[in-house]
Amino acid sequence: MKTILITGATDGIGLETAKMLAKEGHNLFLHGRSQGKLDNVKGALEAQFPKSSITVLQADLSLFDDVKKLAVELKANTDRLDILINNAGVFSIENPITAAGLDARFMVNTIAPYMLTLSLVDVMDEHSRVINVSSAAQAPVNFAALRGETQLSDGAAYAQSKLGITMWTAYLGEKYQLNGPKMVSVNPKSLLGSKMVKDAYGIAGGDLKEGAKIFIEAALSERFANVAGDYFDNDHNTFASPHPFASYATNRQALISELEAIISAN
Ligand SMILES: NC(=O)c1ccc[n+]([C@@H]2O[C@H](COP(=O)([O-])OP(=O)(O)OC[C@H]3O[C@@H](n4cnc5c(N)ncnc54)[C@H](OP(=O)(O)O)[C@@H]3O)[C@@H](O)[C@H]2O)c1
Repeated sequence: MKTILITGATDGIGLETAKMLAKEGHNLFLHGRSQGKLDNVKGALEAQFPKSSITVLQADLSLFDDVKKLAVELKANTDRLDILINNAGVFSIENPITAAGLDARFMVNTIAPYMLTLSLVDVMDEHSRVINVSSAAQAPVNFAALRGETQLSDGAAYAQSKLGITMWTAYLGEKYQLNGPKMVSVNPKSLLGSKMVKDAYGIAGGDLKEGAKIFIEAALSERFANVAGDYFDNDHNTFASPHPFASYATNRQALISELEAIISAN
C-alpha cells in the first residue's frame, strides 16, 4: 500500500487515476480546487470502495498561498509520501491572468507543481516517485511570457507550460537521481476525452483510462523504477526526447532561474 497525492483529482484523467488506485486500496490524498467536487469524489469513492483511505485537500493552484497551504496540509496528515502525481492542469480559461499577474497556464501547469514538489521532497526518499503530467503539445518557453510580461494565445501558453514542466522534471530528476524521488514527465496520450479536451477542441476524445493506466504504471511499475527526469510519450508507449529546446542545459538552467525568481517574489 502506497501513500499517494494526486493533484487535479476531481475530474478527467486525475479522477480516473484516483478511482483505479482507490480500488487497489492505497492511502490516497486527493487534491482539487473545488471543495464541493472533492466532497462528491470522496463520497463516491468511499461508497464504491469501503476499504479505501481518502483524504481530500483543497487548493487553487493559480494562487501562491494555496500551493504553500497544500504542502503544509499534506505534511500535517502524513510524514511520508511515496507517490506525487502532478496532474492538475488548465488549457483555456476565461481570464488567464492570475492575482500575481502571471498566466494561469504557466502557474498551474509549470510553477505550482515545481513549488509543490520541492516543498514535499523532505517527506519523500529514493523509493518515492514524482509523475509530472506533460503533453505532446510542447513549445519553447518565452521567458517574458512566463514572467507575465507578455500574453500568449491559449495554445501557445499551454504548449510552453507543458515543455516547462518537462524541462524542470529533467533538471530536478537528475538532481535527486541518487538520494531523492525518481521523477518522470508523462504525456498521458493525446486527445483523451476530458472536459479540457472537449472545451478546447470540441471533440469527445479517447478513453481516460488510457491516461490513468500510464500514470499508475509510472507510479508503481519496474519499467519506471530508474527514471532520472526522463520524458515518456504515451502516444507511442515509449520513453522519448521532448521538444529539442529542452535538450540544452542552458535552457533548462535559465528556466530554473526564472522559476526561482518568480517564486521568491511571491
Ligand atoms: N486529456 C488529454 O488528452 C490530455 C493530453 C495531454 C495532457 N493532458 C494533461 O492531463 C492533465 C489532466 O487533464 P484532463 O485532460 O484530465 O483535464 P480536466 O478534466 O480539465 O482535469 C484537470 C484537473 O485539474 C484541476 N485544476 C484546473 N485548474 C486548477 C487550479 N487552478 N487549481 C487546482 N486544480 C485545478 C481541475 O479541477 P476542476 O475539477 O475543479 O476543474 C481538474 O481536477 C492536465 O495536466 C492536462 O494538461 C491531458
